[in-house]
Amino acid sequence: MKEELSILIQAQYPLIYLVTSEEERTEQAIATIAQLRPQRRIYIWTVTHGIVEYGQPRNVNQHNTISPEAAIEWTIRQKDSSIFIFKDLHPFIDSPATTRWLRDAIASFKGTQKTIILMSPMQQIPIELEKEVVVLDFPLPDLTELNQVLDRQLEKNRGRRLTTEAREKLLKAALGLTRDEAEKVYRKAQVTAEQLTEKEVDIVLSEKKQLIRRNGILEFIEEDETIDAVGGLEELKRWLKQRSNAFTERAREYGLPQPKGMLILGVPGCGKSLIAKTTSRLWGLPLLRLDMGRVYDGSMVGRSEANLRNALKTAESISPAILFIDELDKSFAGTSGSSDSDGGTSSRIFGSFLTWMQEKTSPVFVMATANRVERLPGEFLRKGRFDELFFVDLPTADERKEIFNIHLLKRKRDITRFDLEQLAKVADGFSGAEIEQALVAAMYEAFAQDREFTQLDIIAAIKATLPLSKTMTEQVTALRDWARQRARPAASSVAEYQRMEF
Ligand SMILES: Nc1ncnc2c1ncn2[C@@H]1O[C@H](COP(=O)(O)OP(=O)(O)O)[C@@H](O)[C@H]1O
Ligand SMILES: [Mg+2]
Repeated sequence: MKEELSILIQAQYPLIYLVTSEEERTEQAIATIAQLRPQRRIYIWTVTHGIVEYGQPRNVNQHNTISPEAAIEWTIRQKDSSIFIFKDLHPFIDSPATTRWLRDAIASFKGTQKTIILMSPMQQIPIELEKEVVVLDFPLPDLTELNQVLDRQLEKNRGRRLTTEAREKLLKAALGLTRDEAEKVYRKAQVTAEQLTEKEVDIVLSEKKQLIRRNGILEFIEEDETIDAVGGLEELKRWLKQRSNAFTERAREYGLPQPKGMLILGVPGCGKSLIAKTTSRLWGLPLLRLDMGRVYDGSMVGRSEANLRNALKTAESISPAILFIDELDKSFAGTSGSSDSDGGTSSRIFGSFLTWMQEKTSPVFVMATANRVERLPGEFLRKGRFDELFFVDLPTADERKEIFNIHLLKRKRDITRFDLEQLAKVADGFSGAEIEQALVAAMYEAFAQDREFTQLDIIAAIKATLPLSKTMTEQVTALRDWARQRARPAASSVAEYQRMEF
């Protein structure tokens, strides 16, 4: 990225937009580039100080350039070989005068060694400038840069040594943080512990989780259940187990491609979210939930896009990781329709997400679930977008038996006291979630009467429940018909065959 920026500046690009929240680190990178021939001076504009030369005392408004228009005009009057950094111009950039002055500057910079760099945590570009500006994302620090941060921290505590493995773990644990954040967590780990060792990796990791939590769009999910807590869905489980080591170096050497992602479609309450969450343990990768609802932010144009971009950038920097998007159909509902009520924001977000999926090279596995196909933009279902499209149907009798078994064991009950065969039969048409709910209802009933629950309590609870497959028969049937043609069944083919019969 530094190289790319360097090339753009050398190639006399007049206007570059750098999306970053790390001002100091970005400035330093630009300062290194400015040393290259021909050497360039650096000026920095802020709305508080006006234009100030980089490295000089920050006198307020010494050039009368507090106003963005005056500042841009000033750059036009300067001599050759300068880089002008405008920090946080985005709130002003839409004003007609600012936009116009920028266009004038671009025109006058032709053939000179002058470049304006707009530096903001979010991207905001008026249409008039779209064709003239190059946008670059300033990436989060990589392992090499984190290594420097760590070394500096170690120097401050002379005598501290790290084994190669401890170092590697500490560095990997801090991936996804900005340089300032990494510095902070390394310092904290050192203060808390006597020595900076492998044990502090946990401290760094838990700090990172908090920082990610604060960002509010991505969420670290820690699921205690293993994949064995999911009843049925044998094919889907087999597929996942087969790919347990798909993100290792060994798999790359073997010549395997990196899995891109999967979409799990199906009837509500049948274990889609559950199986997605347990995959994290199975694969030993962190699971990051992307909350699409929080990506949308109508407070300012471009804010939603910036949110998505930041979240994806964080996910990539933590990779290998699983990016979990639950209920994808809800996130992108309405994008395919023509009646966009939000000024096309959701379409744009959807577009950027698809582009990212297409182009990503980092090992971020997208795991998405959806309840309703008709609300899902067709682009998602096109071949090649996901590695596999699985359909999770209502459980068969055998699967229901297994689900009863799982949930009774989970509540530490002796399963020999129950006739699972009969329960499975009575609960025909029930989803896994409904089976669990019936079981809990039976437990409440008995608990209120101060006794242990029995087979009959469960049967009574089942009889008292009207399952979704009965109240929403049409939707469920439509979904099934659709999926039979296009998706791979998550249950085994034998189970599929059994289902056909009832
Ligand atoms: N196949 C299953 N095996 C075991 N439990 C299940 C199964 N399906 C659903 N459940 C129970 O129902 C809960 C809700 O299911 P969930 O995974 O959220 O369904 P979905 O995402 O398909 O709507 C789960 O947390 C689990 O306790
Ligand atoms: Mg769900």
